[in-house]
Amino acid sequence: MMNKSEIKTQEKQAASLPAKQWLTLNINGTEKKLELAPWTSLLDALREYLGLTGTKKGCDHGQCGACTVLVNGKRINSCLTLAVMQENKEITTIEGLAQGNALHPMQTAFIEHDAFQCGYCTPGQICSAVGLVNEGKAHTDDDIRELMSGNICRCGAYPNILEAIKQAKGEMNNA
Ligand code: FES
Ligand code: FES
Repeated sequence: MMNKSEIKTQEKQAASLPAKQWLTLNINGTEKKLELAPWTSLLDALREYLGLTGTKKGCDHGQCGACTVLVNGKRINSCLTLAVMQENKEITTIEGLAQGNALHPMQTAFIEHDAFQCGYCTPGQICSAVGLVNEGKAHTDDDIRELMSGNICRCGAYPNILEAIKQAKGEMNNA
């Protein structure tokens, strides 16, 4: 059990923790300054503070992949990382994949292969698929299925998602 002086020390330490702090995030090529509680997830920073609601919240604990974004070209679950940990990194969300009016080849391929139904998982699927191609590890259909297994599609659009990724992979590798 703590004595009085230890309790007072703990109270002082808690009182000195900043409720919020300023940070700068580089999102889709633009610097954004935000004042956030240090425990704010990157997902909540995107959706609740920056209005970037393309990134979806499914489970909020790393099980569904709906919140996938790219950080320095690598895919991560934005619900599992704190915004403050992503300062000075390049964050790309589904809103940042297109170049002006030109969709990213992965977006085009998803449309052409009808790789969605309700669309809720789609931003995460597309970001994850772009990261997958960047990794250069997916050589076969089974590789793609395995390496995309963290992205759940409740509508079961998996066969079409596979075909879309194969098409976009060819285009991205030839670009
Ligand atoms: Fe992040 Fe489900 S919302 S993995
Ligand atoms: Fe509905 Fe994937 S398209 S969850």
